[in-house]
Amino acid sequence: MPRAAGKRKIMNREALIRTAEEIFVPGKGVIAADESAPTCQARFDAVGLPYTEENRRAYRELLFTADGLEQYISAVILYDETIRQRSTSGVPFAKVLAEKGIVPGIKVDLGAKELALHPGEKITEGLDGLRERFVEYKAMGARFAKWRAVVAIGPNIPSPACLRANAHALARYSALCQEVDIVPILEPEVLMDGDHEIERSFEATTLLLKEVFKELADQGVLIDGAVLKTNMVIAGKDASSQSSPEEVAEATLKCLRAIVPDTVPGVLFLSGGQGDEQATANLNAIEKRGPFPWPLTFSYSRAIQNPVLKIWAQNPSGNVALAQQVLLFRSRMNALAAAGKYSEDMEQQRPY
Ligand code: 13P
Repeated sequence: MPRAAGKRKIMNREALIRTAEEIFVPGKGVIAADESAPTCQARFDAVGLPYTEENRRAYRELLFTADGLEQYISAVILYDETIRQRSTSGVPFAKVLAEKGIVPGIKVDLGAKELALHPGEKITEGLDGLRERFVEYKAMGARFAKWRAVVAIGPNIPSPACLRANAHALARYSALCQEVDIVPILEPEVLMDGDHEIERSFEATTLLLKEVFKELADQGVLIDGAVLKTNMVIAGKDASSQSSPEEVAEATLKCLRAIVPDTVPGVLFLSGGQGDEQATANLNAIEKRGPFPWPLTFSYSRAIQNPVLKIWAQNPSGNVALAQQVLLFRSRMNALAAAGKYSEDMEQQRPY
């Protein structure tokens, strides 16, 4: 008997795969420009920029209209406010990007909140009403969506409860994405906060990713239409022994190769508080160890934008072109790293 119309939507596998293919273009990567209101405020405060809607809009316009950005960047992740904003000439930002051949997407989680009964651990919220929100985001041009889950390392954490709750939420969000042919970029992030050694990052990332792929399978998420965005395996920011690019590459790939199914269309890395050049050098060291079953590239926020925002804040009306040069430079360095063709001496060409 035919299924009653409207009872259940079946995803369009081809559409999902096509979007994933447009995100993973060899030698290009993704910019995360989806800082939530509180995060954006913290970044603006740090460089002395007034946190006004017009400043947020002008800053994103600077990023998205940089001439030639599409040479290095295949996709950009936007925030709810940003996808509703327009360029000075009145073009919605999602359209500005799409016209350059850059795929626009949207962060849809509503942030990480304290996990009940688990001090020091968080659960990401935002599933309620997400199906309805997707209708609007799709109409605004979003073709993929991001959900970030954070997992801390500390005494007795991460707990199994935290790993399971976050993996479950990631899988439910991914299913909702695929129902409307939006590619989920699921971002389970083991934080760099703390003085833990690289081994603890390896253990926590392994546990977390295992849980995530188990939940994705349980929820029926199409693995070849779901993108993983993950942390590199790396020592904590305050660890006495900091990880070298070789150590990061070895541990990260050991973890990913053991867990990530070959059918995943690609893996993105977040920068997670690494230094700008450190994030580039680590990506380069990883890529040099290819080939892999999946394309790997960057999806950085801080490691690309930190120097851009700093330069712009020094003179918002006069430094637009210089800030754009900085953006193009860091994007190019990371695009080279994504092909394993970066070297530290290239930093001498820095325009800042
Ligand atoms: P960072 O590169 O600054 O870690 O940001 C990536 C991101 O998308 C966080 O959700």
